[in-house]
Amino acid sequence: MAMQRILTGITTTGTPHLGNYTGAIRPGILASRSESSESFFFLADYHALIKCKDPALIRQSSKEIAATWLALGLDTEKAIFYRQSDIPEIGELNWILCCIAAKGLMNRAHAYKAVTQANEDAGEDADFAVTMGLFSYPVLMAADILMFNAQKIPVGRDQIQHVEMARDIAQRFNHNFADVFTLPEAVVGHDSAILQGIDGRKMSKSYNNTIPLFLAEKPLRKAINKIRTNLLEPGVPKDPNDSSVFQIWAAFASVEETARMRREFQAGIAWGEAKKQLFELINSELSGPRDNYMRLMDEPGHIESILLQGAERAKEHSGKMMCKVREAIGIGAIC
Ligand code: TRP
Repeated sequence: MAMQRILTGITTTGTPHLGNYTGAIRPGILASRSESSESFFFLADYHALIKCKDPALIRQSSKEIAATWLALGLDTEKAIFYRQSDIPEIGELNWILCCIAAKGLMNRAHAYKAVTQANEDAGEDADFAVTMGLFSYPVLMAADILMFNAQKIPVGRDQIQHVEMARDIAQRFNHNFADVFTLPEAVVGHDSAILQGIDGRKMSKSYNNTIPLFLAEKPLRKAINKIRTNLLEPGVPKDPNDSSVFQIWAAFASVEETARMRREFQAGIAWGEAKKQLFELINSELSGPRDNYMRLMDEPGHIESILLQGAERAKEHSGKMMCKVREAIGIGAIC
């Protein structure tokens, strides 16, 4: 079977939540166990600088996200697990790709357009507080991906466009110089993988509606109790398709358990009871990893050494890739 190379990163700007788990980390770890895949998972700390100017938060988040992958059982002998900023070649490739990527392509990035639009709506200059980092965000992401010849990029829907831009930049480079880069493709999980937050919108740190992944039991129960519901009384049928409680249930339960809960909704389960069952389900899946997480958070030196080993392995790839790239573009020794 042909080997598939999978790569994804998580920006280090917050505490991992249930949405990161079902959307990225759980499917990533599963895929990494396949004999026919090679995985690259990393902490996107250079991307964090784009939205976050708080060094303590970036440091803490890097530690938490690394501990999370490890606590959930990522096999770091098999997968390559590293920190973006430990690979200096990524910065180098970023510059080279900046000289390839069309500015007009970057103008069309949704994330950047959302900011300029919000500025205009507020009567500000369109570029108010827009940094070159925000504008060039997709180029750095292309450098992350193309550096390792990654083929499959598991991401949330909001990142599909960025992966397509990486593909576009790769094509342009290959066309101008030499066939150096593999063309990447986004892989988006099924709908239940995109978790709803406690207010019913997509679970996201930017909406402040998340349930942190490794909350202790009591606060986890409390957070689940806060999930917004309608006011239907016990005994009144409830629409599972219009309920965050059900949606989150489906992301954790088996097919059979999901079908059972669907019937319970139709039979009018009380919200309190549905939330109690949801707590038990999530807690049973996460209580083991939570213990691992607590232990790892007390051993930052251990996490650090794993990241550094991962960086050494990643650098074997990035070093070779940069030789090819420099050769292709005419940078380097003159004889
Ligand atoms: N931008 C991604 C996010 O915020 C994180 C990221 C950075 C990434 N580089 C990447 C994801 C490369 C996949 C591949 O979600």
